[in-house]
Amino acid sequence: MQAPVKVGICGLGTVGGGSLRLLLGNADEIARRAGLPVEVVRVATRRPKAAKETVRTDSGIALGDDPFAVVNDDDVQVVVETMGGFEPAFEVVGQALANGKQVVTANKALIAERGDELFEIAERHGTTLAYESSVAGGIPIIKTMREGLAANRIEWLAGIINGTGNFILSEMAAGGRSFEDVLTEAQELGYAEADPSFDVDGTDAAHKLTIMASIAFGIPLQFAATYTEGISALVPEDLAYAEELGYRIKHLGIARHTGKGIELRVHPTLISKRWLLSEVAGVDNAIVVKGHAVGTTMYQGPGAGSDATASAVVADVIDIARQLRAGAAQPLVPALHYHGAASKLPVVSIDGIESECYLRIPVLDRMGVMARITRVLEQHAISIEAVIQKEVHGGSIPIVLLTHAVPDGNMNAAIAELGSLPDVVGPIGRIRVAPFSAGE
Ligand code: HSE
Repeated sequence: MQAPVKVGICGLGTVGGGSLRLLLGNADEIARRAGLPVEVVRVATRRPKAAKETVRTDSGIALGDDPFAVVNDDDVQVVVETMGGFEPAFEVVGQALANGKQVVTANKALIAERGDELFEIAERHGTTLAYESSVAGGIPIIKTMREGLAANRIEWLAGIINGTGNFILSEMAAGGRSFEDVLTEAQELGYAEADPSFDVDGTDAAHKLTIMASIAFGIPLQFAATYTEGISALVPEDLAYAEELGYRIKHLGIARHTGKGIELRVHPTLISKRWLLSEVAGVDNAIVVKGHAVGTTMYQGPGAGSDATASAVVADVIDIARQLRAGAAQPLVPALHYHGAASKLPVVSIDGIESECYLRIPVLDRMGVMARITRVLEQHAISIEAVIQKEVHGGSIPIVLLTHAVPDGNMNAAIAELGSLPDVVGPIGRIRVAPFSAGE
């Protein structure tokens, strides 16, 4: 067998620790698959003392707290960046690439927001920046789209791409547990982000959608143009009313090629109960991709957690080891698209995107309220598809409506006007319906 490929790891938290364990624990199988041994030679972590159990003194792995000692080590050929965040991750990855090293990162924020700068450095130095683990944990969705579906024009993709959020929604639908309780469990299990508001407010899902869309449509990474809405305004009743209407509520990332450009949006979404995606529960992620030739395909699996994410990190390391074994002067596959070949398709503003909508309007139970609501909707050219009005005795009641497709801008104006009616006594809930049907 050939000489080993030498790996350095920066960051030994949930993902980095899992990756090290997997590289050490499955070394023989990995060597057989890669065609040469993969050897970890240096690790940097903020708490080297605490890492002494994982990195045994007899392992021969150099342990320290400086990630730059890893990227500047002449012996290291592949750098695994699992620190997260921007600083110093951007400099660490940039320096590693400039030193001609191959880099594997699990850092979705870094790729989504600063990836284009880093890919440019990688291209200049003829190295690879691989990031399979940045999206959907253990599901190999990047490789699938970049390689398996490479012949297709991608029409749309839709995914449950935040495990913590899906876990929270699944538990809310099952009833009985508080939002905080479920979030704490997600943190203990290593699913949630260091700042869990990223899971709840949609930022984490928007990072992942940005990355997937750039591969699917060949567009530059455009995190800032992605419309992002979280799950914190949902109330348990929304999940129950959606069920009554034949839907489930999932926090979806949607990227869609339309005549106007590319839609990029993350928001709670009603999806038909007939759609398999509606059944994906707990921390699992699932992504549906529609290619013009292949049709609709779906990928499901654990979207977070130490071992699942490590599976994707190490898959990238093995790919790079094979590339080095083959003596490829350039990466075998480009990170995103070949330089200068990016599509110029615009990202469509959310205001112009048309969706059927679910509305929950808390009103005072009094004569004529329904007529006043429908009048406002009519004035904004919004037609109603279904209505649920619950029977209550006194006080406020929710009117729940499903509308036909309406541009977001019209719906925003209608919601503002409805909110100013004296009958309406609380915030109006609005949830968009998925723009695809189960059979599509
Ligand atoms: N916080 C993320 C999630 C981890 O819950 O999906 C994986 O990116």
